[in-house]
Amino acid sequence: MLIEFDQAVVSTPQAEVLRGVSVSLAERRIGIVGPNGAGKSTLARLVNGLVMPSSGSVRVDGLDTRQDLKAVRARVGFVFQNPENQIVFPIVREDLAFGLKRLAPDRQQREARIDSQLARLGVGHLADRSSHTLSGGERQLVALAAVLVMEPALIVFDEPTTQLDLRNRNRVRAAIDGLPHDAIVVSHDLELLEDFDRVLVVRDGAIAADDTPAAALRWYREHCG
Ligand SMILES: Nc1ncnc2c1ncn2[C@@H]1O[C@H](COP(=O)(O)OP(=O)(O)O)[C@@H](O)[C@H]1O
Ligand SMILES: [Mg+2]
Repeated sequence: MLIEFDQAVVSTPQAEVLRGVSVSLAERRIGIVGPNGAGKSTLARLVNGLVMPSSGSVRVDGLDTRQDLKAVRARVGFVFQNPENQIVFPIVREDLAFGLKRLAPDRQQREARIDSQLARLGVGHLADRSSHTLSGGERQLVALAAVLVMEPALIVFDEPTTQLDLRNRNRVRAAIDGLPHDAIVVSHDLELLEDFDRVLVVRDGAIAADDTPAAALRWYREHCG
């Protein structure tokens, strides 16, 4: 999947959040690191049109997020930092079924797809659980399953392991590692990014470094530590 940022600016009345980002991304695993408030989430949200550029453009497989939002959203799934924002239905299964209704009108097919994605993430037993009884790690995995049932080609993760303890962080790391999908992962979990294909460092609304994980993370530690 090819993502092309062309002079993408995001500004608010108070400030310029992203200052003219131009970059093409096509690697299977891309990491984004940077200090708090640098513009990482804004950059990630541009990819699936949750945020639109104030000027410039963002294209996904040649589709402009502004003109082809639906087609972009069908290709790009987004896993939020806080899965509370993502899980809205009282029962896990209902939450996964909601987005699928149009895509898989047949109920049995839909249920099969839901069960298989939950099972693949090791949380098949949670299908009929009440959403509010999930632990933080379970919640993040269910949020990921809800994205996977929609069969996107690329998944963007915004700090997927930030709120998790070590054990759950490892579960989510393993889940991300195991995905055949392309992924863009914003993270402060530098270990997670070590075997990625490419890492961007975002600082002050711009891409300050863009390199192999080893080189980019070294740059990050030296300049932002
Ligand atoms: N919609 C918005 N309105 C005003 N300020 C915003 C908005 N979105 C982001 N910002 C500001 O832009 C900066 C970058 O935000 P963000 O992309 O969330 O950074 P990061 O994810 O790197 O912490 C922050 O200072 C944030 O407060
Ligand atoms: Mg953020």
